[in-house]
Amino acid sequence: MGLVALRARSARQLAKPTAAAIARAAVLLRAGRLVAFPTETVYGLGADASSDRAIAAIYAAKTRPRINPLIVHVADAAAAARLVRFDARARALARAFWPGPLTLVLPRRPGTKVSWLASAGLDTLGVRAPDHPVAQALLRQAGRPIAAPSANRSGKVSPTTARHVAQSLGPRVALILDGGPCRVGVESTVVDLCGRQAALLRPGGLPQEAIERVIGRISVPVTTTRASAERSPGRLASHYAPRARLRLDAKKADRDEAYLGFGPLPPGLEARYVRNLSPKGDLAEAAANLFAALRALDRPQVRVIAVAPIPARGLGAAINDRLGRAAAPRG
Ligand code: TXA
Ligand code: MG
Repeated sequence: MGLVALRARSARQLAKPTAAAIARAAVLLRAGRLVAFPTETVYGLGADASSDRAIAAIYAAKTRPRINPLIVHVADAAAAARLVRFDARARALARAFWPGPLTLVLPRRPGTKVSWLASAGLDTLGVRAPDHPVAQALLRQAGRPIAAPSANRSGKVSPTTARHVAQSLGPRVALILDGGPCRVGVESTVVDLCGRQAALLRPGGLPQEAIERVIGRISVPVTTTRASAERSPGRLASHYAPRARLRLDAKKADRDEAYLGFGPLPPGLEARYVRNLSPKGDLAEAAANLFAALRALDRPQVRVIAVAPIPARGLGAAINDRLGRAAAPRG
């Protein structure tokens, strides 16, 4: 295909989220096609959660291992409670934070129509109501739950713009709704509420501290801490990985390295390519910029991206988690 034809096709694939485009997206979803859409965290690769064929297409498009379950997106807590068993903690968290960057893992209701492939055969489901007008409009028009992982190839950096999606998945997606850059920039926090003790499965866009103010202490399995990643890198699957290697906690960088800063840049910095996640040291701003900055620094001539230390509090936990995985040895 020539360049002009390619451009024409990608122009049709990317759509401003007008009412007509959202209606077209809903029709495509109901027909079992894949539609990428913006959420407040990252772009999602959506499919009808009840269709085995559509879910299989997600795994194929991402080359995602089928043992890794997908998050099922719903408009609100009432829709979620039709799929999973809500308990008092789930109700309290949904009231406090939905729509928002929080995924709840709960026991699946018997008879729920969600594809078993979506939950990788588990009798639990991760559910979330996204806080984005385009995602909300799409969910309501589709009239059914939408399974959606981040819209990137498995193991790669998550997309925070429609262009990232087109670059990563291209023609595997029927339509990409372009809602501009994502506000939060890191994926949702995943909390497992299936046991008596709530557990943090993935730090994300909602800080752990905020969740604990509502339901009390949640446990953090060791595999989700950066310290454990460093002690036992083998246990941490390489993920969110740019092509270049990452060097964390770097206070300087050589000329042939790139530097990803946070707060004031170190004096006398030699790196040729520099991005700053947040010159004023704001963690929310840093999270929003993280994935786009990693992509921008991941140039063919850059072998190492040196990364400034990032505080561990609040959204810093999610940022450090993603950086730790990006730095982990490659499979
Ligand atoms: O912010 C987000 O969560 C984005 C947007 C699109 O909503 N989605 C996202 O999906 O990050 P994905 O597939 O990239 O990550 C889903 C995470 C994985 O770590 C998966 O293992 C976990 O959620 N998960 C989903 N269902 C689960 C379940 N039933 N039990 C345990 N973990 C589950
Ligand atoms: Mg992902």
